[in-house]
Amino acid sequence: MGEMLPLLEEIYSSRKVYDASGEAVSVFPTSIPCEEGMALYQLVKTAKPDTTLEIGMAYGVSTLFICQALRENGHGRHIVIDPYQTTPNGWKSIGLLNLERAGMRELVTFHEDSSHAALPRVLAEGTRVQMAFIDGSHRFADVLLDLYFTDKLLDVGGCMVFDDLWFVPVRKALAFALRNMPYRLAHELHGAPVSLPMQCKRFARTFLHNPFGAYLFGGIAPGWGLHHLRYNYAVVRKLELPPRSWEFFANF
Ligand SMILES: C[S@@+](CC[C@H](N)C(=O)[O-])C[C@H]1O[C@@H](n2cnc3c(N)ncnc32)[C@H](O)[C@@H]1O
Repeated sequence: MGEMLPLLEEIYSSRKVYDASGEAVSVFPTSIPCEEGMALYQLVKTAKPDTTLEIGMAYGVSTLFICQALRENGHGRHIVIDPYQTTPNGWKSIGLLNLERAGMRELVTFHEDSSHAALPRVLAEGTRVQMAFIDGSHRFADVLLDLYFTDKLLDVGGCMVFDDLWFVPVRKALAFALRNMPYRLAHELHGAPVSLPMQCKRFARTFLHNPFGAYLFGGIAPGWGLHHLRYNYAVVRKLELPPRSWEFFANF
């Protein structure tokens, strides 16, 4: 990374963000850790996408990393979807304010809506994206819908990043993508592993959830190993594969 945005530096050192009235709010556990933000930044720097997509903005920390890379690339726009950005019980517009504070508001097309409502509209506009960060609702049906529509928007060769691998529904949706859709794990990108006690906790939780689940010992998909125990996010790349028979279904 070149110079980290002063705003991001301040957020990670103070662990706080500020609303319009100057009131401080804790940025964690809502926002991604710095290593994950760096990975998003690196992905956008390398891929040089025309358009990126983000589902789930909150305080805009991940948004700032993506937009910094787009700005340094000299081109590209960012589509962001979040239903609770300006609501008083939600994120109090802090994500949008942070974009303004960093001088990057004009890079973003913002949809204040749930992804299940906004994504079909974005698709109907004929939008194509080359990178997507999925960090919205973590309910299984919602992650699956985010995957379904994002796949329709994503160019072959593009990447999807899933946050919160510790959460079983996210891993399940990812397992579906890797076993039934033309995606492979992009091994080249992952940040610092989580601590050993955390890995053990995840192992225990996964085991209790489904003791014989293939994704515990066999990995979520071939080549996956125990990645889902070690990391918080996964990057998958869309492949050019011949269409499968309508009867194809791999258990996940
Ligand atoms: C973990 S936070 C996102 C954090 C952010 N990506 C970051 O790291 O800075 C999850 C976000 O998903 C949003 N969200 C919840 N339900 C959603 C839905 N149905 N569609 C889109 N976003 C949703 C929440 O409002 C919240 O902002």
